[in-house]
Amino acid sequence: MHDVALYILKQLSVDRFYSGSQLARELDVSRTAIWKHIQMLGVYGVDIYSLPGKGYRLAEPVELLDQKRIFKGLQGFHLISSVEVLSSIDSTNRYLWQQAHNGEPSGSVVFSEFQSAGRGRRGRQWVSPFAKNIYCSLLWRYDDTHNGIGGLSLAIGIAVVNTLEEMGISGIGLKWPNDLLFGGKKVAGILLEMSGDPCGSGCVVIGIGINVDMKGFSDSSAITQPWTDLVELKCDSDISRNELSILLLRSINQALLNYKQNGLTQLIPRWNELDVMFGKEVVIQGVSNTLKGVARGIDESGALLLLSSGEIRRIHSGEVSLRLAENSGDLCC
Ligand code: BTN
Repeated sequence: MHDVALYILKQLSVDRFYSGSQLARELDVSRTAIWKHIQMLGVYGVDIYSLPGKGYRLAEPVELLDQKRIFKGLQGFHLISSVEVLSSIDSTNRYLWQQAHNGEPSGSVVFSEFQSAGRGRRGRQWVSPFAKNIYCSLLWRYDDTHNGIGGLSLAIGIAVVNTLEEMGISGIGLKWPNDLLFGGKKVAGILLEMSGDPCGSGCVVIGIGINVDMKGFSDSSAITQPWTDLVELKCDSDISRNELSILLLRSINQALLNYKQNGLTQLIPRWNELDVMFGKEVVIQGVSNTLKGVARGIDESGALLLLSSGEIRRIHSGEVSLRLAENSGDLCC
């Protein structure tokens, strides 16, 4: 988003009209230019009332992410080294990979208010309207891999559930490997991208998307699975995305520390408590084959345990999907 549009947005409020000529004076541009930026904000989904002779005001309050406030809230959480807030990017994961190539240190975090090409798992798009939700990526360079990295995304999933519980939202479960669901509807997703290429064997970008407020989001056909958001779950539209970001990063900091020391082992009981598939008949869909069985939780490497034809099989995440078997008579996840 253009800096001028962002400046305008920061000046506007719901309480009073702000005149176009005052904005034009402050920014040293024409009133037509202001009008064009107001139109552009509309394209981003920001509702703005305009009244001839009075100016512009917001239809609803917009809380933008505040880099200073978030970073201040992370004092003492030493695994987070920096926080950057962008107004618009294609994908925070893609951006942070590029930064990793340029030597960005471990613990760097990037948020964006908008993603034009947010990445989901299995090549899907992650729909990312402006200033509504959380789109966050964290770069983590690890020097010893004795716990393996396979279970990390599950540990992060638990950390995100813990964050939402701290926000007073209970009843969220996890679907292996890392979907956060409420009543079968997706509320958050996690995408870990790792490669030996840009930064040796120990570098991973952890991407987290949380649906906070999707109200008024018209293009729901772009989302291929049932979804919900925190405003609906909490019955409260007053969720501070800044507070949520702070709690999220504190929880991730803790999860990384624990994972470094203990891996996934101590988290298995918590996973089992949150696992929406535990004990259910499920189907694993691979690239070329399917496997039916009963979900039996996870092992210490993060593999799904599947009881199939009388034996336990270990399914490693990647390009497989997990869903309930058709005869299980439950909500589809
Ligand atoms: C999923 O499909 O469940 C994973 C979704 C992950 C979305 C987040 S939003 C921030 C980060 N940047 C991306 O492009 N994707 C992840």
